[in-house]
Amino acid sequence: MPLNLSESVTSDRQVKVELGSRSYSVHIGSGILPRVDLTSYIDGDQVLLVTNETVAPLYLNMVRKQIKSRKIHDLVLRDGEKYKNLEVLDDIFTKLLTEKHDRTTTLVALGGGVIGDMTGFAAATYLRGVSFIQVPTTLLAQVDSSIGGKTAVNHSMGKNMIGAFHQPRTVIIDTNTLQSLPDREFSAGLAEVLKYGLIADIEFFNWLERELDSLISRDLGKLTYAIEQSCRIKARIVRSDETEQGVRAILNLGHTFGHAIETFLSYRDWIHGEAVSVGILMALRMSCLRGKIEKSDLDRVSKLMQRCSLPITPPNSMSPADFNELMLRDKKVRNDRVRLVLLEELGQAEVVETFERDYLQRVLSEFCNLN
Ligand SMILES: NC(=O)c1ccc[n+]([C@@H]2O[C@H](COP(=O)([O-])OP(=O)(O)OC[C@H]3O[C@@H](n4cnc5c(N)ncnc54)[C@H](O)[C@@H]3O)[C@@H](O)[C@H]2O)c1
Ligand SMILES: [Zn+2]
Repeated sequence: MPLNLSESVTSDRQVKVELGSRSYSVHIGSGILPRVDLTSYIDGDQVLLVTNETVAPLYLNMVRKQIKSRKIHDLVLRDGEKYKNLEVLDDIFTKLLTEKHDRTTTLVALGGGVIGDMTGFAAATYLRGVSFIQVPTTLLAQVDSSIGGKTAVNHSMGKNMIGAFHQPRTVIIDTNTLQSLPDREFSAGLAEVLKYGLIADIEFFNWLERELDSLISRDLGKLTYAIEQSCRIKARIVRSDETEQGVRAILNLGHTFGHAIETFLSYRDWIHGEAVSVGILMALRMSCLRGKIEKSDLDRVSKLMQRCSLPITPPNSMSPADFNELMLRDKKVRNDRVRLVLLEELGQAEVVETFERDYLQRVLSEFCNLN
C-alpha cells in the first residue's frame, strides 16, 4: 500500500499512467506529502534528493522525513532556468559519484519543471539509467512536466535540446505546496490547465470557466480536481503516443506561437505560461478563420486569460516578420513546414500540416497590430 491513508485523506486522488511495464501512479492530494510513504517506491538503499535554494527551505525536510532508513543525500541547486544546463547536470553526477551511488539508487526531484527535467535526465543517464520520483511543486510541473517522461537540459543553442524519455516511478502532488507559489507562476500554470480543456475536454473547460475565481483564490478542493483532470488528460495522451510520433503534439496548443515569443524575448521578462496564453489565443483565432470555432469562443477564452492576469497580445516590439522567422525555427518544424496545433472544435485539437498561409499572416498582423 503506497499511501499511508488517514481519515482526512478521503479526497486524495490517483491517476494511472498506463505504459506497460513502465506504468505508474500520480497521487494528488492536499497535504499528501507528510502522509505518503515514499519508501515503498524506492528499491535500493540510496537516495539523492535534488531541489533548489527556493524550494529547499519550504519542503525538503518534509520530503526527507518520508524516506525511512536509507542513505539519503541531498543536493540544493541554484534557482532558475539558466541553471538547467550541462554544467549543473554534471554537478548532479559528481554528487552521485562522490557519494558512491550505484545502479539501485533513486533520485527524487523536488521542485518545478526545471528541477524535474534536469533530475529526470540525470536519472535517465546515470549508470545508463536509474529510478526517479517526481515531487512537483509548481502548478505547471504538477499538471504537465512531471508526467510523461520527457526530461532534458538546455543547450546554449536551444531549449531542451539534450534529453531523453525516462518515466518516473511515481509522481506525488501535494496541492498545499501551491500556497507558497508566486502569483505569476500560478497564473502561468493555469494557462496550461485551460489548454487541457481546450484540446481534449469541453466539459472540463466549462467547469474551469465556472470555477475560475475559486481556482485563482487557490481553493484546495477545486485545485485538486483541476489538477486531477489535467493529469488524466495528459496521461491518456501520453499512453497513446509516449514518444510524440503523432497525437502527443496536441499538448503543444499555442506553443509554436508561444515559443516564438519566448525566443524573441531571449527567455527573459515573460514566463512560459504567459507566452502560451497569447499563443493559445493566436491558435484559436486561426481555428476561427478556418471556420472551426466561433469568434465568441475566442472571446470567451480571451476573457479567461485576462481573469488569470495573463497577457493576450504579443510583446509590443514584436512584428509578423519576427513570428514568421522564429516559428520556422521551432522544434516542431519538419522539412521546413510549420505544423500547427489548431482546434477542430472547442474541446478537440488536431495537428495541422496543411493550412491556409494567408490566414496565418492575417492572425499575425491582427495580433501584432492589437498592441
Ligand atoms: N518535461 C516536460 O514535459 C515539460 C513540460 C513543460 C515544461 N517543461 C519545463 O519546465 C520548466 C518550467 O517549469 P516551472 O514553470 O515549474 O518553472 P521553475 O521550475 O523554474 O519554477 C518556477 C519558480 O517557482 C519556484 N518554486 C517552485 N515551487 C515553488 C513553491 N511551491 N513555492 C514557491 N516557489 C516555488 C522555483 O524555485 C522557481 O523560482 C521549463 O524548463 C520547461 O522546459 C517540461
Ligand atoms: Zn507548456
